[in-house]
Parts: sequence; structure tokens; C-alpha cells
Amino acid sequence: MCLVVFPFKKENPQVVLNNVKIAAEHPRVEEVLCVGVEKEETYRSLEQNIPTVKMETNTEINLILQERLGNKRPGKGDGMNTALKYFLEETDLERILFFDSDITTFAPHWITKALEGADIGYPVVRHYFPRASTDAMITWMITKTGFALLWPTSELPWIEQPLGGELLMHRSVVEKLFKEEDVISRSDWGIDTMYTFYSVMYGFPMLEIYISEGKLHKLYGKLTDLKTMLVECFDTIQSLKDKTFSLMSKNSSMENLSVCNGGIVHRAEHPHEVPADVFEKIGFDIEGSMTLLMENWTSKMEELLDLFPRRVRDGLLANKKGPSFSFMDEHTWRETYFVLLEHFDATDEDWQELIFKLWTSRVLCYTTTIALRGYYFAMRYLYSMIDRYMNYSARQIIKKIKRAKKDENNSST
Ligand code: DGY
Repeated sequence: MCLVVFPFKKENPQVVLNNVKIAAEHPRVEEVLCVGVEKEETYRSLEQNIPTVKMETNTEINLILQERLGNKRPGKGDGMNTALKYFLEETDLERILFFDSDITTFAPHWITKALEGADIGYPVVRHYFPRASTDAMITWMITKTGFALLWPTSELPWIEQPLGGELLMHRSVVEKLFKEEDVISRSDWGIDTMYTFYSVMYGFPMLEIYISEGKLHKLYGKLTDLKTMLVECFDTIQSLKDKTFSLMSKNSSMENLSVCNGGIVHRAEHPHEVPADVFEKIGFDIEGSMTLLMENWTSKMEELLDLFPRRVRDGLLANKKGPSFSFMDEHTWRETYFVLLEHFDATDEDWQELIFKLWTSRVLCYTTTIALRGYYFAMRYLYSMIDRYMNYSARQIIKKIKRAKKDENNSST
């Protein structure tokens, strides 16, 4: 039996309540937990309506407010971590499942499929969904790119949707994660990255299940809607950049590179169907996002650009006169990413605006040169871009290991 959790803030209460009901009606769900940010309208509406759903379904349903557990912006991380705490302290259930509360396509098989994965021995089961070629731009350009560049031989870059909020964890996973300071302190959008990173770090086998009908939720407008998420997701990757998987440091030889660096048992279900609207959907407002590159320049941002290769600095500054983004191709983004890893300061507003502009130019470059060539072309490109990043970084690591060995041999002779 399991606990199903819906973290929420301001949502359509009807949508949340409907999802709560679906979970509560599921024969393998023992309890449903809703975790709110504050006592606003959605919270009050749930408070009023949950007793009826409880009666109708005969399932335990609880509504709580998130605790202040972390030290970043109080957000989704506090909500999810509050649920982990509740799961460990208030229940003796084996499994916890998280679902975003605003999904309008949620259905019982989302629970069944995850539980069936757990039944055959996977302590982590993650849902993944077909997404439009211009959607998931933080996932592709920040998270998967970072995983590929920093831990190229680990399983991390292979995880389909590392920022997904729909997942199952066994109690043994939660016990480990809840002791991890990085996880508990991450109260913001970085939480998904932390859960993903540490479940791989601890070597838990992972299954990814494909939900072909997709996850329909509120659409984004201009890319500014994603600015906070972008900053927090990059900040999380940056905070982890010096971590190496323990096996890696113990066996730093070339021969075992592929197995030792966070290689875990990881299976992903084949993505059989892609619904028509995923082909047609545009992930964000393209024209509106172009003008964002031209606005909000400060002299400090211009100075910070001196840290980057010249074509990045000149290319981005050209936006002061008119939209310029075609310079931010895959290679330029890789170089930009490494500079950001070294210098970015998530607490500084100029840095926040600068990373936002750099990322926006990457997204617009990709959208106008790749995504417009169609869904399958774009998907092939995105996966192979990650392959190229992994390859590049793995080669750098191999070179380093070879150099270190040579030095060691030289010094011993
Ligand atoms: C992502 O990149 O996955 C975010 O959800 C925005 O689409």
C-alpha cells in the first residue's frame, strides 16, 4: 500500500479535487496527502470538500501546510520534503508517490503502472511523458546538458525527464534522501534535480514508465514565466558540480569508467505513442521572448559578459540594437555553460538576468534552426546533442586520467 501526495499552491480547486478523488478511489492507495503552501483559496476549498471525498471513497485523506525545512526560496522543495517527513514520521507505508496537482489528464493507471514497477523490484519509478519539441527547455538545455557535461559516464544524462514531479520512491530511498542536507535545504524548484541526483548517487535502480497521453497542464507564455525555475535549476546543478560518485574516485581507471561513475540499473519503457497535439503545440511565445533579449540591460551585466568567449559577449550585446540569438549554437552553449558553472551567482540579480538572456538566446536559436524542422527531427537532434555533450566530457575525463597516469609513471621512474 502507498501514500499518494499532491503538493499544490494556487490551482484550480476542481482539478486538484478530481485528482485527489482518482487517487483515493485506487484500490492500492492507503492514504492521500495534499500539501499546500498557505491557507489561500485552493487550500480552503480543499478543506471544505475533502470530508465528502473521504466519505465517498473510504480512504484516509489529509491536508497539511508545508513546513519551512529548507533555506532557499520557500517553494516546491519544502512541499515535497514536508511530504517525505510526514511519510517517515506519520506512516509505516512502503511507498510514496508524487503527482503534480494541476494535471488534467491524471488517471488511475498512472498509479497502477508505477506500483507494478515497484512490485518487480524498482525502488524508484519515474513517469515520463511526450513533450512538444519546444517544451522542456530547462530540462534539455540546463539539466540534461549539465548532467552530460559534469557526469558524462553516469546514468544521469540518460534519465528522460529529470525534472518530472511524478515519481514513486520506496521507503529505503526516502530514508536516504531525508538524511541528505543538500536535499532538505533545497526548498525551491531545485528539488527535482536533487531527488534525481541523489537517487542515482545512492545507486537505486530506476524504472521510467511512459504515459502516452501526456501531462496536460497550464501553458507557459513568454519564457520569463520560467526565469525563477531556470535560475534555481541551474543553481542546483552548480551546487553539485564538484561531487563525484564515490566509486568513481576509488576506481579512477579508464577501463572501468563506464561502470563506476554512477552507473545504475536503469530501464526506460519504449515511448510508443505520441499524441497529435504534442506535434503541434508550441511550448512558449516565440515573438514575445525575442523582445526579452533587448530589455533590462545593466552596466554590470555588460561587465559580466567579459567572462565569456568573445562571440558570446558580442552576440548577446548585439541585442541592444535588435534580436540576436543565432550565435548560441550547441558548441557556444557548452562553452557558456562551463563559464556559468564557474562564475554564476544565483543570489545576484544581474547574474539572474544574464543567465536568463543567455538561455533565452539558446532556446531561440534551437527553436528557429532545429525545432521548425519538425517534431522528429527536433527530438533526434536533442537526444544526439546530449550524446555529443557526454562524449565530449567523457573524452576530457579520459585525457585527464591518461595524463595523471603518465605523470605517476614518470615520477616513479
Ligand atoms: C522543463 O524544462 O522541463 C520545464 O518544465 C519547463 O518546460
